[in-house]
Amino acid sequence: MAEILEIWGGRPLYGTVEIPSAKNSVLPLLAASVLCREKVCLKKVPHLSDVEVCLALMRSLGMDVRYGDTGVVIQPTANVEDASLQTELMQKMRASVLFLAPVLARCGYVEASLPGGCRLGKRPIDIHLDGLEHMGANVRWHGERLCLRAPRGLMGTKYTLRYPSVGATETLLLASVCAKGDTVLHGAACEPEIVDLANFLNQCGGKITGAGTETISVQGVSRLSGGAYTPIPDRIVGATWACAAAAAGGCVTLEGAQPEMFAPVLDALEQAGCRIWRRKNQVKIERRKELVGIGERKTAVYPGFPTDAAPLLAAALLGASGESCIRDTIFTNRFACADGFLAMGANVHRIGSDLRILPGGPLHGTTVAAQDLRGGAALVIAALAANGKTKIEDSFYIQRGYADLPQQLRRLGVKIQVKKT
Ligand code: UD1
Repeated sequence: MAEILEIWGGRPLYGTVEIPSAKNSVLPLLAASVLCREKVCLKKVPHLSDVEVCLALMRSLGMDVRYGDTGVVIQPTANVEDASLQTELMQKMRASVLFLAPVLARCGYVEASLPGGCRLGKRPIDIHLDGLEHMGANVRWHGERLCLRAPRGLMGTKYTLRYPSVGATETLLLASVCAKGDTVLHGAACEPEIVDLANFLNQCGGKITGAGTETISVQGVSRLSGGAYTPIPDRIVGATWACAAAAAGGCVTLEGAQPEMFAPVLDALEQAGCRIWRRKNQVKIERRKELVGIGERKTAVYPGFPTDAAPLLAAALLGASGESCIRDTIFTNRFACADGFLAMGANVHRIGSDLRILPGGPLHGTTVAAQDLRGGAALVIAALAANGKTKIEDSFYIQRGYADLPQQLRRLGVKIQVKKT
């Protein structure tokens, strides 16, 4: 059943939100647990549709997985029963591609279709496949289906990624951790989620060094155990709440947030006029006066300004008194939410991968549609600042990355209704 969010904006936010484990860590950790020979418990895992898709993929492989209140419990499986990943599940999200390497490593074979995901522009998987080929995988297409074979197992290699893709770095970590021999990855992504994956694999007996730098070394091991693990807090959820407080005004505490992980977003909000207190596991953000424009901002790989936060920051700046321009250098279609901003009366101009935000009149509520996960969250942020009621259609995009958003907003004083259609 489709859901529409109805948000009455124009009220400041007051209160505290808990930051859950990062979706972008949990998904690769679930893929990693396919390799584990002992029970795995992942803690503080939020209830998200993307997590459900991963669990469905794992069940289709014959794995026993449970999603309780304390997290996800994955029982080890002696044999992966079916190395054919279902097209319907693959196409539900981009992160489904992360299951290729572990299934290939366990079965010597995997068959799948191309992953789906948010339509942010072209999203090829050439680096994933090229890296796996360097490790000895044979890659073939049968129509729309992709078949990878490595009957004698994957081999350690030296490989340079042509771009520091987060997903491809994760694929190659998952492929190399139990490969024969040593692997050195040059040009690897440095995002905190890569470090988290390496920490989890090392806790299970993997031998990975250098995660978080551009060169990662992996000594292949024959077997991974399991254990309990708490993934890092979600820095994009943290950025979302910070931008929401900036847009609506008020004062919000982000409990469990690690401010250094989304420092560029907090810096931008501070420059725009918010007051921010950063502690080890907590961020407090307060906005009392009108925001000012921040000039130009470009997204970049970590530790630069995160692409996922670009539409969120844009939404916060719609009511600012000066000009801002945000350029996404990673995806070509990051600002699909601009149509919604325009419908709400914002003065924005989308030029290529840039979004120019000019001072305009006050935002007003209307009917808009989410077109992707972060763009959908950006519409929620804009709705919090708008006068009157905003209806956000296609809110299933938002549920991919935010658990129980209506309830969390209510706790901060927002009037919100969920309508089933
Ligand atoms: C991950 C995040 C996503 C975030 C992105 C960039 C998850 C589940 N998703 O996505 O939220 O926006 O990192 O920080 O963790 N590319 C290629 N060939 C490849 C792989 C990627 O050309 O084989 C390109 C992509 O088209 C894109 C760029 O590299 O332009 C970045 O993609 P990548 O870092 O791989 O992002 P994802 O892992 O898909």
